[in-house]
Amino acid sequence: MRYLTFALTKGRLADKTLAALEKSGIGCDEMKDKSSRKLIFVNEEYKLKFFLAKGPDVPTYVEHGAADIGVSGKDIIMEENMNIYEVLDLRFGACRMCICGPKEAGELLKHHEMIKVATKYPNICKDYFYNKKHQTVDIIKLNGSIELAPIVGLSDVICDIVETGSTLRENGLVVLEEVCPLSARVVVNQVSMRMEAERIGKIINALKDNI
Ligand code: PRP
Repeated sequence: MRYLTFALTKGRLADKTLAALEKSGIGCDEMKDKSSRKLIFVNEEYKLKFFLAKGPDVPTYVEHGAADIGVSGKDIIMEENMNIYEVLDLRFGACRMCICGPKEAGELLKHHEMIKVATKYPNICKDYFYNKKHQTVDIIKLNGSIELAPIVGLSDVICDIVETGSTLRENGLVVLEEVCPLSARVVVNQVSMRMEAERIGKIINALKDNI
């Protein structure tokens, strides 16, 4: 039996993903050791391998077959738009993709004005403004702390993730429009899904029973 490999997202989603795997009986004790510098962890009983990757890289590992299964945020899946199957909503990591800004910027969204939008998610942002709102906008790609952009005058609004809303509140910004809800999803390589249908199906069902 060959190993099935899981790519998990480092950071916020990692602990919740590990807990879900554990509850489903497919965990990996080795991964609990936070001081470990190992990159790959193995569950010999079920012939599973796990590794942690940066969020935007998880769909890449899965599309190329370096991982059979991945757990990734819906934001990353939408933004990267890879040829992978999204098979399960794990429901944790729930948050929203929103258009945010100072309250007054709400007016700019009503009249199809040419506005500047800062975001870490240019593809999601483009799809929302161009295809759903039919509004032409100038998209400015940033890599983090997106809330800074309207405060320092780089953009009129931002397209970003809102979880608790505290970053917005503490910086005098509000949600102006909701783009879509987000949460952690299980994704599967398209070839693995055919070749390892039974094993992967069992894993997905085990996770489904434990969310
Ligand atoms: C995310 C997001 C917001 C914040 C929202 O940033 O981009 O800035 O979390 O969370 P809240 O609604 O609970 O305040 P993250 O912390 O991932 O870092 P980043 O700003 O560097 O992208």
